[in-house]
Amino acid sequence: MNQVPVPSLDELWSILPEEASADAATPEVLSIGGVPVTELAERYGTPLYVYDETGLRRQIRRFTEGLRERWPNSEVLFASKSFPAVGMYRLAQEEGLSIDVAGGGELQMALAAGVDPARIHMHGNAKTDAELAMALDAGIDTIIVDNADELDRLERLLPARSGDRAATPQQLLLRVIPGVAAKTHASQATGGDESKFGLPLGQAAAAIERMRAHPLMDFAGVHLHIGSQILDVEQFAEAVSKLSGVTSDISGGTPFRTYDVGGGLGVKYTYADDAPAVDAYLDAVVAAAREHLPADARLLIEPGRSIVARAGVTLYRVTSVKRTGRTFVAVDGGLADQMDAALTGQRFEAVLANRLDAPWSESVQLVGRQCESGDLLVDGAPMPPAEVGDLVVLATTGAYGYTLANNYNGALKPAIVFVGDGASRLIARRETYADLLATHEPAIVSRA
Ligand SMILES: Cc1ncc(COP(=O)(O)O)c(C=O)c1O
Repeated sequence: MNQVPVPSLDELWSILPEEASADAATPEVLSIGGVPVTELAERYGTPLYVYDETGLRRQIRRFTEGLRERWPNSEVLFASKSFPAVGMYRLAQEEGLSIDVAGGGELQMALAAGVDPARIHMHGNAKTDAELAMALDAGIDTIIVDNADELDRLERLLPARSGDRAATPQQLLLRVIPGVAAKTHASQATGGDESKFGLPLGQAAAAIERMRAHPLMDFAGVHLHIGSQILDVEQFAEAVSKLSGVTSDISGGTPFRTYDVGGGLGVKYTYADDAPAVDAYLDAVVAAAREHLPADARLLIEPGRSIVARAGVTLYRVTSVKRTGRTFVAVDGGLADQMDAALTGQRFEAVLANRLDAPWSESVQLVGRQCESGDLLVDGAPMPPAEVGDLVVLATTGAYGYTLANNYNGALKPAIVFVGDGASRLIARRETYADLLATHEPAIVSRA
């Protein structure tokens, strides 16, 4: 009797990119954006991050058009930490998104992509002088202040700006802790009372007074972000409701110009997950905004994961199959390019992408090549009996996969390709061993 929980075709397509398909001529091979994965593996090698560009753009429009229809005085910021690639910053701007960066590196990538500084917002709970100076020099739209020490830094840095901007006040938001404990993995909850991000509501008043009093600070309003991979939209509504208290209790009832309610919408990773649609999320946020925020306020949201997760998959090649009582299918990547399974316990689904039509008769341990038993990409993945050389697609890895990629065991960070309309283009090349050695002696000694 077959004990393996085989997904239905509908379930299969629900976790793959929107433009995934099996061509009638080659029903055994998965295509993404009209390009067979066999072709992608051949041309770019594996592991490979593959993004369905058409689906990605469609998902962005669900956010931009959906928010504009419901609350015209609004802005959707792409939380770029979820997929910090120069090609993605460019695509995001093309689609009308503004950009949220956390730190100098993401700011540099956004600027390199040609993003207009007037559409960049900078986050971070430990910004350095150098990063703040970089943001001020670039003339970014908004800095989201996390703490009183950051205000000390800004007080020193603002008057030191050169040129035309020296006398222009910098727009600032204050990050507050709303006291909403998001129902998600502990490492992804950021809005509870214990959070290291932002100031508790009780300490916000002093910071707001300071910003309001300073001639070079333009205090616009407040920011919150309760966490990531949140599947209950009522939690976002609850967070927004906490902001009505902020204006009345903290600033003597004076409404703020801007309310940024962060990101965090969760996505469907597994066949069993039930994730809210973008519309359901926007309905909940905007209903709460209508009830609790001033009608003429500017409303900002910062989705990351929910924009990029489903559009992206990671393509691996099987390097060994071991049957020791359990079946271990090992691939040529692992937690060096896919940290989330180990970091947050996130469950993913995998597909044997070059033999889609073979009977799914085994439940396997899909493992990576890093030296950790925790390098387990999927614990119990249903699939046909795999063989060396087969291609595995790990689904829904478009968010935080490339972000968290590292060089564990000397692994080289994979390349990224965008696919659509039957064509593919390289967005980031694979690292080389020369890249790996470039920051070490003797390379640095000989250049010094
Ligand atoms: C301040 C801020 N905004 C937005 C996001 C994006 O969250 P998500 O990718 O879950 O939408 C994050 C992620 O941690 C964040 O820290």
